[in-house]
Formats: sequence, structure tokens, C-alpha cells
Amino acid sequence: MLSLVVLFLVVHKANPVRAAGVVCDDQALGQIPTLKGSWETHEDPHYQGYYDAGAACPSWAKDWDCMLDGDANREELPDTYNKVFKPYDCNLRPWNAEKFSECTAARRIIMIGDSLMRQQFMSLACLANDVVVSGEHHNWDEEKIPVAMEHDYIARGIPGDFRIPRQYIGRFDLKSGAQVFLRAFGRFNLTLWDDVFKEFLPLTDNDVIIVNFGAWYPRYNVHESGDPWKAWQEDMTELIDQRLSRYAARSFWRSSSATHFGGINGTMTFEKSVSDALAAAGRCQPSPLNESWYEDWMKTFLRSCGPRCSKIGLLPVFDLTQSRHDAHHGNFGRGKGTWILDCRHFCTSVVDVWNIVLYNQLC
Ligand SMILES: *[C@@H]1O[C@H](CO)[C@@H](O)[C@H](O)[C@H]1NC(C)=O
Ligand SMILES: *[C@@H]1O[C@H](CO)[C@@H](O)[C@H](O)[C@H]1NC(C)=O
Ligand SMILES: *[C@@H]1O[C@H](CO)[C@@H](O)[C@H](O)[C@H]1NC(C)=O
Repeated sequence: MLSLVVLFLVVHKANPVRAAGVVCDDQALGQIPTLKGSWETHEDPHYQGYYDAGAACPSWAKDWDCMLDGDANREELPDTYNKVFKPYDCNLRPWNAEKFSECTAARRIIMIGDSLMRQQFMSLACLANDVVVSGEHHNWDEEKIPVAMEHDYIARGIPGDFRIPRQYIGRFDLKSGAQVFLRAFGRFNLTLWDDVFKEFLPLTDNDVIIVNFGAWYPRYNVHESGDPWKAWQEDMTELIDQRLSRYAARSFWRSSSATHFGGINGTMTFEKSVSDALAAAGRCQPSPLNESWYEDWMKTFLRSCGPRCSKIGLLPVFDLTQSRHDAHHGNFGRGKGTWILDCRHFCTSVVDVWNIVLYNQLC
């Protein structure tokens, strides 16, 4: 029996059964997909990702860049960028900016979430650079969107004076007429959501919403005395029941990405002993467990939701981030010497894959 299991594992790893010819599109992945795979070294030793962020991104889409801004572990950068994600069960169609532009012509893509959604927006702008005709991006308070700046919005489960941070605003247009919008704020609140969506109404079946919240629902944040994991579940239930399931638009819930702040499940952000250990190591840490429960919870929710949620899909990025503790900004010095390494945001080569997966599901 044991040898059969071992044999199966070996065969599965060496020769994935369905990989040949099957594209990771909606049909291969399904509405509620899992995307398992591994990061492999590119056959070209000089390969360094889809683009050079310093040279190929629009001027308004320059994010913190591991290559340019990193001042630690620099000798590891080439290896970090030389890896490509290979799913076990299907093949990712390679990115093609022209085809992305055509397939999203006349659509609006509305990206909502926190600074990790901002990273995805920036990555999409860089990938699509050749077909971008105009764009902008700035801090929310520099933009006059009065409705969502004049009011304060309360976060569920956080008592006291905490108000939801409104972070970034962005948009860009593709030559096909497609429009991409970013509205980034820390936590979900229905009133804030509605204020943000006023400018997009009415939504039609030509619209695509990409949404994720998670990073501002910390599990080990000693500054927060509420019950954030429960608050997250209640917020996401409200988001789907009250809004996404009632929209004509197609929605994707983008899985949360893994964090590598140490501790058994990678989330120990605010305990001094853990920050000290992280600072001493100078790099983000693999976690024996992981935060797969966000994605698991959402899959269970969508399955039990049935036809009402037929327009809501999942953009399955969790698994592909879990093994990349080596590709966080923090590994290359972001946050070093301040209070904690940034083991949440990823170097572009990881975030780009989120958009390649989106491209495979959407086009
Ligand atoms: C969302 O924010 C509004 C405005 O501050 C507040 O009235 C409401 O209670 C908040 N919702 C939740 C669930 O906290
Ligand atoms: C994460 O790990 C801690 C132990 O450090 C454990 O107490 C906690 O239950 C874990 N969280 C989840 C949601 O599994
Ligand atoms: C996450 O942890 C669970 C056990 O808690 C494990 O079953 C699963 O394979 C892990 N996922 C990844 C991507 O490491």
C-alpha cells in the first residue's frame, strides 16, 4: 500500500496527468478553483520576470521595487526573479497585452481592496503598458472624491477611535476602450462601499469587480481588541449577500496572499519577540501552517450559496504565494530598521502571476 502511494506521488510530480495542452481557463479551473503548482527555475538563466519594473512601468505606476530599492540580501535577487509558477494540472496561457486589451474592450474592471490590491493594479498597468493610453494613481486624499473623504467609516469589531483608512485611487484606459479602476481602503464597510460605487452605477454584465480584504483584519494585532477573524467573516458575508450576488457585474474574490511574519501560521506581526527574531534574521520566514482558512472559508461559502452566486468566482492566488517567503519586500530591506520587515507585500514577479491567472480566467 505504502509503495503504491509513493509511486503515485512520484508519477504525479514527474508527469502531471492533465498538464499537456489544458489551459487554465474557467473550464479547467471551474467557478471555485484551486490552483496548485510549483515555482520552477526558468530555463533561461537570465530571465528576470515579465518586465523590468524600473523601465517598463508607466511613470504613475512605480511601486516599491525589490530590484531597485532593495538594500538587503541583494545577492538573492536574481534567484528570486528567475522562478516561474507552473500549475500541476493545466498550463497558464502566457500574458499577451494586445489580447488582454481586446478581450476586455468596453469593459470596466473595478479593483477594490487594500494595498495588496494596489499592488495588483500596479502590476496590471506594467503588464499592459504597451496598450495603456492614459492613467494615474495617487493617495486617496489627493483626489477630490468628496463623498468618501468627508465621512468617517467604522470598522466592524474595532472599538474606539479607529476609522477605516482610505488609501489609494487609480485608473487607466486601454486602447480598446477598457477602463481599469482602483479604489483601495483598509477594511470593508457597506456604507463606504456604496459611497465608492455611486460613480460606477448602474453596473452591467460588462463590468468586472475584483475584490479582496484581509490584511487589515490581523489575527495577532495587540492594538486591536476585537475579534477580527469573526469580523472578516461577517464583513464578507455582507459583501456577498447584500452586494456582489445582486449585481449584474461579474465578480472575482481574489484569495488573500500568504504572509510570512513568523509564528506557526505566519501571522505573528505584533509580538515583540517575533519582530525581534524577524529583524535578527533579516528575512521573512516560512510558516509551518498558513492562512489557507480565508480561501477555504470563501470556497465553502460560495459552494453553499448556489445559483445566487453564479456570477462570483474566485481568483485562486493563495497557494502560489504560500511557498514564496523569499519574495517579500522585507527580504530586500523594506521595513528594516523601522519597526518590522514587510513580509506581506510581494516583489512584482509574484504579483504579476495573479494577473496572468486573471487573464486566463477572463479571456
Ligand atoms: C460603517 O460605517 C458607517 C459610517 O461610519 C457606520 O455607521 C456603520 O456602523 C459601519 N458599519 C459597521 C458594520 O461597522
Ligand atoms: C495560528 O497559530 C496559533 C499558534 O501560534 C494558534 O493558536 C491559532 O489557532 C492559529 N490560528 C488559526 C486560525 O488556525
Ligand atoms: C496550509 O496548511 C494546511 C494545514 O493547516 C495544509 O493542509 C495545506 O496544504 C497548506 N497549504 C499550503 C499551500 O501550504
